[in-house]
Amino acid sequence: MSPPVATTKDIALQQCIMPGCGATYDVGEVRTSCDACGSLLDITYQWNKVAVPKTLSEFEAKWTRRNDPLCRSGVWRFHELLPFATPDKVVTIGEGQTPLMPSDGVASFVGMKPGQLFLEYEGMNPSGSFKDNGMTAAFTHAHTIGAKRAACASTGNTSASLALYCCVSKLMQAVIFIGSGKISYGKLSQALDYGALTIQITGDFDDAMQRVREVSSRMGIYLVNSVNPFRLEGQKTIMLRVLESLNWEVPDWIVVPGGNLGNSSAFAKAFHELKELGLIDRIPRLAIINAKGADTLFELYENRGLRWNAGVPNSEVVDNYYAELDAAHRRADTIASAIEINRPVNLFKCIRGLECMDGVVREVTDQQILDAKAQVGASGLGCEPASAASVAGAKLLREEGVIDAGERVVCILTGHQLKDPTATVAYHTSDQKEFDRVLGSRGVSRAAFANRAVQVENDLDAIVRAIQLNS
Ligand code: F0G
Repeated sequence: MSPPVATTKDIALQQCIMPGCGATYDVGEVRTSCDACGSLLDITYQWNKVAVPKTLSEFEAKWTRRNDPLCRSGVWRFHELLPFATPDKVVTIGEGQTPLMPSDGVASFVGMKPGQLFLEYEGMNPSGSFKDNGMTAAFTHAHTIGAKRAACASTGNTSASLALYCCVSKLMQAVIFIGSGKISYGKLSQALDYGALTIQITGDFDDAMQRVREVSSRMGIYLVNSVNPFRLEGQKTIMLRVLESLNWEVPDWIVVPGGNLGNSSAFAKAFHELKELGLIDRIPRLAIINAKGADTLFELYENRGLRWNAGVPNSEVVDNYYAELDAAHRRADTIASAIEINRPVNLFKCIRGLECMDGVVREVTDQQILDAKAQVGASGLGCEPASAASVAGAKLLREEGVIDAGERVVCILTGHQLKDPTATVAYHTSDQKEFDRVLGSRGVSRAAFANRAVQVENDLDAIVRAIQLNS
């Protein structure tokens, strides 16, 4: 395979996603929206000027050079498919070494045939979530343009990831915005440990997101939330690794939790590009799973008929819905704090992706999320609540008959189990008061798959008896 590009200006562009506008901007500019019409931006490429391999299996050759950080990274070993930066500017910390694991335990819970359900375990990333895939890409762009500070609003994983890249590379200072009380301790502890300037505001993620956009623009701080189109270029590679693990065979379904809708948008872009390049012959279907307490996409797509419409979306339904949310003072509310978001910034990219991947959207309750999470844990991987929405959603789609038991399904486990121990311990507790305190208010009433600790007095015989009784 030829070496990656030496310069990118004539290869990559930033481009408005709206076909009716299509305005383009240089990749050297910092922007998160189109000047002409205010829409989101894509990174687009002149593929005829890029040394794209003829088959996806050619990427496997990079494994033989895995002491080169750019071949080792699970993002940058696909550099030819995200050629917006020159190799000397790439900032990598070994992200993307994530396995795709078949799980017959979870398959049986979901109602799939053995061997048909796979878990893409993004919790294995350096900061413990899929965010590192996108952060290495946005951070690389930030470094390319010489940024010295980078900011994000976060429910905890984006901020942990940004804080880590700043801390390891020493290239920038991290400024993170979080809603107070809206972040799990696992994630907050990462940002604090890694030395991020942590701004805790009264309000939730949607408030923090609005503020960080204002502050970044006023102070010229580089914004790394997924409105940044470079983030999504990195997140495309999650799908490349899924394909690689399946011997480059396209699965039938990709099931992913939906929050700010960056992943789903990135996945659709990846498959669209691979198909255009002739590297795959078909595109899998996409299922995006909202938590019921943060179900903007579900409501708009499944109930109110929002569609991309080949680039002419009926966007008035979005304005009306947001006006209703405001009038009712409704805020997002779910145990899956990572996806506790009512105003997803990538909404329009996402509905474009749903059109491209013949997608569906579902919502699941906190009860369904926690039961699915316990099953993922019992099968040996473990994930945080938001991630388990994918498994709960796959189960729902099986029950509805939308997914067939014999199809090949990949659920994305977006974040590590240790990100949110409070939810896990509360689910398994034998202390009813603690259960009610943490989960009762969320409508969770039972823990069908709880593994309760056995309470025993500090006495040798009693301990022996307890072990005999329980094993
Ligand atoms: N799962 C986890 C574990 C997340 O942290 C997030 C988003 C999502 C799913 C949703 O992904 O936004 O691409 O639809 N977390 C963001 C954050 C919002 O700030 O860490 P999405």
